Amino acid sequence: MLITTCGNSEMLAKKLAKQLRARYLPLTIAAFPDGDLYLRYPVASLKSQTVVLVESFQPHPNQTFLHVLFAAETAKDLGAKKVILVAPYLAFLRQDARFKPGEAISSQIMAKLLSKAVDKIITIDPHLHRYASLNELFTIPGKRLTADPLLAEYIQRHYPDAVLVGPDWESSQWAAAIAKSLGMASTTLKKKRLSPTNVQVRFVDHLAVKGKTVVLVDDILSTGKTIAAASREARKRGARQVVAIAVHGVFVPGAQETVKRAGVSPVITTNTITHPTNKIDVTPLLAAALREGT
Ligand code: R5P
Repeated sequence: MLITTCGNSEMLAKKLAKQLRARYLPLTIAAFPDGDLYLRYPVASLKSQTVVLVESFQPHPNQTFLHVLFAAETAKDLGAKKVILVAPYLAFLRQDARFKPGEAISSQIMAKLLSKAVDKIITIDPHLHRYASLNELFTIPGKRLTADPLLAEYIQRHYPDAVLVGPDWESSQWAAAIAKSLGMASTTLKKKRLSPTNVQVRFVDHLAVKGKTVVLVDDILSTGKTIAAASREARKRGARQVVAIAVHGVFVPGAQETVKRAGVSPVITTNTITHPTNKIDVTPLLAAALREGT
């Protein structure tokens, strides 16, 4: 097994190679003077090899998509018998319907193209909302991992007396599941999305947060507006401290300031996307999935 990356997940790919005692293969990715993509493997042949391409779809999801397609096609062209895409964070999943006439359904397009380019996909906590499983999107085998146990372990170690709050019903699959596994109190807020950058959330039950540490748990932290709105509500109800834990820290520009202004501290993420807030390492999760079967 050979492990490589297009650059977004270099640290993760190297750690994974070490844990699996596999060879790490650095790719050269550059641009020709006119901007065209240039990609090169440091070997002349990948004959009979299984190539594991570890690449998070953040930052620069559109460019990353092209990198992944080029890397996968080239691996096959060089003789690889199998290309497995490990996408710790998979993008394009939130546009999973035609919300306005004429829109592209990004998740379907992404899945269609990737299904042609790679033989298997492994991802962590994909934002599956209108699709129940990866099999409904991809025509290749897909493995959906969850960072839940890692988040639970972190919360138990650092915030054993907290109450867990999911800022919307989609996040309740993380907040409620983790709370249940730890025997902690939890609630899910009701969220109304007014625009891609504006949300309203409100408590719909009487969970006591006064004087307590509230841990907000979500899959994605992108603009930070969801976490910020939830934090303000928790503070209004007298929460002593508001912590946010997200699986995928996308952090668009300004997001960190947004959550800080709303009184969230600290913000913790897993390393599915490389970011200074990474405190939870998903390498063992990915290593176990690759050991189980390639
Ligand atoms: C939405 O359904 C997700 O679970 C997250 O709550 C959302 O993606 C967070 O986005 P933002 O940080 O932009 O509010």
